[in-house]
This record gives sequence, structure tokens and C-alpha cells, in this order.
Amino acid sequence: MTTGDVKRVAVVPGDGIGPEVTAEAVAVLEALRETHGVRLDFRHFDWGADKFLSEGVGLPEGALDMLTRDFDAILAGAFGDPRVPTNQHAEEILLGMRRGLDLYINLRPVRLLHPRLTPLRDRTPDDIDFVVFRENTEGAYSGAGGFLKRGTPDEVATQEEFNTRKGVERIVVAAFEYARARGRARVTMADKSNVQRFGGDLWQRVFKEVAAEYADIEANHQYVDAMAMFMILNPKQYGVVVTSNLFGDILTDLGAALQGGLGLAASGNIHPGRVSLFEPVHGSAPPLAGQSRANPAGAILSAALMLEYLGHAEAAAAVERAVRESIADGETTRDLGGTLSTAEAGASIRRRIKG
Ligand code: NAD
Ligand code: IPM
Ligand code: MN
Repeated sequence: MTTGDVKRVAVVPGDGIGPEVTAEAVAVLEALRETHGVRLDFRHFDWGADKFLSEGVGLPEGALDMLTRDFDAILAGAFGDPRVPTNQHAEEILLGMRRGLDLYINLRPVRLLHPRLTPLRDRTPDDIDFVVFRENTEGAYSGAGGFLKRGTPDEVATQEEFNTRKGVERIVVAAFEYARARGRARVTMADKSNVQRFGGDLWQRVFKEVAAEYADIEANHQYVDAMAMFMILNPKQYGVVVTSNLFGDILTDLGAALQGGLGLAASGNIHPGRVSLFEPVHGSAPPLAGQSRANPAGAILSAALMLEYLGHAEAAAAVERAVRESIADGETTRDLGGTLSTAEAGASIRRRIKG
């Protein structure tokens, strides 16, 4: 919901390094008011492990309706805390928002911002530049399953995976639409249809049917195990990758490594036209929490994806340029070889934003 041209943003910093990196992302967004006339109205929410441990509340009742009614976008940090070994609060909050708001596109760019960042030899930004469309509401993340004879030697655990025609079709269509809109020549679908005969069969059929509607875009398929190898050996072949929830999760951490590490990877959880959620790909990184060492770039680049979603394409591009320049100048946190704290790295990016 929008008042005039002010967009309303729910900020959910979460756990561990979440609050540290989110503060820098919000500071960048605030700076854009001056340089780009971006007007955002922020409201912070304390959902996370502390609240869960003290009040027993993960995602508060009515939160999804409130987000739908009162906000244009959500900016989140990370969820996960060693004091909650079941991960129940993170499941309620993060997967709760993804599923409950029907944010079916998890868009995760894999883009090398500077040649020195990639662990691959002799690769340039031209070689590593693709976008993963991860299905975000079903697959292995359905939450369905159960135990039989739990705790006995005869224990059985089932973990069910759901693939719906509607769910597969809409993520595949989104990938092709994006490829067409952004001038990407190829969409590659990754599955494990040689083993997962039913879900894989559905993905194969839907992919072929949708691809036939986009004759201008090359469609190809790889088994996901082979894709993990080819992402290292020949990442240049990818333009848009579309895959299931679990495979997308795994491939995008690999993608994060290709671009310089989890500290740099950004994501958007999107349902076009509805309130959507933007967050770094990384988690709460317990070993780094409270040390001002976390790289804020992934959170800041996620804020840039949010800006684009909210119709501020120029401001989004200015943020990306600023991140790239600060990296080129070596003004980074330690994960990228620099010496800066989280706040100093954020300030270095803000200084470079020009109107
Ligand atoms: P993680 O992404 O939190 O961290 C793995 C490692 O990557 C860190 O130890 C650190 O070395 C590096 N790293 C991550 N973010 C960084 C940053 N901003 N700057 C510099 N280095 C960074 O993954 P994990 O350790 O497997 O998970 C920790 C917790 O986070 C778990 O509870 C997990 O479930 C949760 N998690 C949450 C999300 C999310 O909220 N979206 C995503 C992934 C993991
Ligand atoms: C991610 C994370 C989440 C996922 C976890 C924390 C539930 O790894 O956003 O990539 O698996 O989707
Ligand atoms: Mn992940």
C-alpha cells in the first residue's frame, strides 16, 4: 500500500549478523532520499530468536495480513540462532513469509563484481553473470512429513516433496519472461528427473511447454549434479537458471562462492504486484555475530533489488555502482580481503552514491 510516492518498508533485522548488515542497508536507503528523491517509510519489527525465546512467538498472529495491507516491501536480515536448535522461529518467520505471502520467485543474481573476488582462475565479470530463479513456495520445503516409531531402532522419517503444475509453471514462466525482458539468450532448467521420476517428469513437461512459447529464447536442461560442476567449469554459459526450491538453495550458495562469497549475494522473494521480501542470501553467521565483521554488501545489494522492485531503477543502479567502486578501491570487510568494519564498509558505499 502506498501513500503518495512514499513506499512503506517493513524492516525485520532478525538474528546474529542480521541486525548489523540490515542497519547498513537501511542507512544506504536513507541516503537515497537526498541523492535520488527516494522516499521510504520504515517500520522495524523485532521478530527473531530473542522474541521467540522470551515470548514463544515466531511470526506474530496477523503478521501476514498486516504486511499485505500496510507495506510495499519487506527488508529482512537473517534468521537462525544456536539457542533454537529446531530452527522453529526461522521456519515460522522466513518460510512463513515466503509461503504465506505466496512469494513464488526467489530471484538470486550471481554476478562477479570484480575479477579478484572469484576463486576461479582467469575469470572476469563477463564470465560470471546470471540469475537464478528458485521456486520458493513448494518442493522439498513443503514442511510435510512425519515420524513413525521415533527414537526406536525401527524409526522411519518421511519428508515429502510437492511439485504442483501451477507452482512449476509460474516459476518457469517468470524465468522466461525475465530472460526476454532483460535480453538474456538462454534459460537453463536444472532438475534430477533421471531419479525423481514424478516431480522431475512434471518439471520436464512444463519446461518444454513453456519454452515453446518463447521461441526467441534458447531453452536447455541440465541435471542438477552436472550443473554444480558446470557452474565451476563454464559459468559463462548461463543467462537465467530455473530450478526447484532445494536445488536453488544449494546452487545459489555455490553461486555466492563464484562471486566472492556469501557476504555479497543478494536475493528477492517476489510475487509480482504484491508485497515482496528482500534479504541477503547468507544466514545469521553465528561466528561473526556481534563482531562488526560481517560484510553488509549482500544486504545492501538486496536493498537495491528492492529499489528496482519499487520502481526506483536509477537509485538501484547507483547503489550497485557504489558497491562495485568500493570493492575496486579495496574498501571492504575482511571476507573480501579488506580491513573495514561492517559500519565502515557501509559508509564507504554510501559515500560513493551520486545523484
Ligand atoms: P551463514 O550464511 O550464516 O554463514 C556461513 C559462513 O559464511 C559464515 O560463517 C561466514 O564465514 C560466511 N558469511 C556469511 N555471511 C557473511 C557476511 N555477511 N559477511 C562475511 N561472511 C559471511 O550459514 P550457516 O552458518 O550455515 O547458518 C547459520 C544460521 O543461519 C543457521 O541457523 C541457518 O539456518 C541460518 N540461515 C538463515 C538464512 C536466512 O535467514 N535467509 C540463510 C542461510 C542460513
Ligand atoms: C536461504 C536459507 C533458507 C533456505 C533457510 C534458512 C530456511 O538457506 O534463504 O537460502 O533454505 O531457504
Ligand atoms: Mn540457503
